This record gives sequence, structure tokens and C-alpha cells, in this order.
Amino acid sequence: MKVNFFSLVNFTESILPLLKNGGKIINISSSSGHLSRIPGEELRNRIKSTDSVEELIKLMNSYLVACRNGEEIEGGWGDSSYVVSKVGVNSYTFILHRRLSAKDISVACVHPGYVQTDMTGGAGQVSAGAAAALPVRLALAARAQGYVWHDGRVVPWDGPDPRGFIDGRK
Ligand SMILES: NC(=O)c1ccc[n+]([C@@H]2O[C@H](COP(=O)([O-])OP(=O)(O)OC[C@H]3O[C@@H](n4cnc5c(N)ncnc54)[C@H](OP(=O)(O)O)[C@@H]3O)[C@@H](O)[C@H]2O)c1
Repeated sequence: MKVNFFSLVNFTESILPLLKNGGKIINISSSSGHLSRIPGEELRNRIKSTDSVEELIKLMNSYLVACRNGEEIEGGWGDSSYVVSKVGVNSYTFILHRRLSAKDISVACVHPGYVQTDMTGGAGQVSAGAAAALPVRLALAARAQGYVWHDGRVVPWDGPDPRGFIDGRK
């Protein structure tokens, strides 16, 4: 949570004043960031309707409290902090995109695929270099927007999950 979500938000908020109009931000997300990965329906709706960074941070902090109290499963968060961190990254992406649209700064998040890195112990279908091509392409495009899958499709965050997850389960 600290590295994947809170640091990403803190870092991005810090560099926003340096971004020029027309700039782009590409957040590295995951398939785990799809909203369907959160089991609780009420919680999914709450995450979906969150419209400010402050509200989102409050919600993510409430997850940490739930974990400390051992209440994250009954609270509808599921059993994966990685999932919650990436759902948070996606939510932040959309909030920021709306917030910066007046400056023509676009914000997207990317699921890079299953990549051969330390995280996967070298397993995976593509090399890190090949997986980096999509975020670079988006960064160089005129605009970048939405939740972009490794094959370039824009996936509805709150629609059907491309991997077939429903209510946090496959
Ligand atoms: N690999 C995949 O299949 C896959 C799939 C979907 C999404 N992703 C996402 O892609 C991004 C890159 O992942 P990766 O596969 O390249 O993983 P990785 O090879 O394990 O690299 C993780 C990176 O995070 C840094 N890091 C870890 N803990 C940190 C901390 N406490 N403070 C600062 N830096 C820290 C590491 O720094 P050090 O090198 O200094 O340790 C490393 O550079 C992640 O956001 C991951 O969620 C990966």
C-alpha cells in the first residue's frame, strides 16, 4: 500500500506544478486494479463514486485500519493488499484525469501484462523492455486516457473483467 498507492499519489501530487499543459501521466497498474477484484458491492460503489484525492486517501486509510483490526474481509476488501493498492491507483488515475482536464493534461493507467521481472521471479510472457513499449507509446501519443490493457485495449474499469473475475472471484 505504501509503495504502490501512497507513494505514487505523494510523488505525483509533488510534481504536478512542474507539468506543462498538454502533458501526460501514465500510471503502472495491473489486472489486479480492475474494480471487479473488490468483493464487496457496497465498497465497489463507494470506490467508484469517490471523486477527490482526499476522499480516496481517507478510504485507503480506512482499509489499513480494517487490516489492523482484522476486519478487511468482512469489510468487503478481500484478502489482497496488492489488489487494493492497484484499485487505488486506478481510482486516482480517473480522479486526476478529471481534475487536470482543464489544463489538457491526460492521465492513464496501464496493465503491462505478465512480465519477466523480479516480481514474477522471471516468469511471465514478455520481457520488461517489450512491456515498457505500451506506456512509452501512450506517453508519446497526443492524449492518453483510461485503463489500458497490455494489448492496447481500453478496458472499462467498472465493467466486465477481462480475466473473468466477478465479486473478487474467478
Ligand atoms: N511483473 C508483472 O507481471 C507485473 C504485472 C502487472 C503489474 N506490474 C506492475 O509493474 C510495476 C513494476 O513491477 P516489476 O514487475 O518491475 O517489479 P520488480 O521487478 O519487483 O520491481 C519493483 C520495483 O519497485 C521498487 N521497490 C520495491 N519496494 C520499494 C520500496 N519500499 N521503496 C521504493 N522502491 C521500492 C524496487 O526497487 P529496488 O530495485 O531498489 O528493490 C523495484 O525497482 C509494479 O507497479 C507492478 O505492480 C507488474
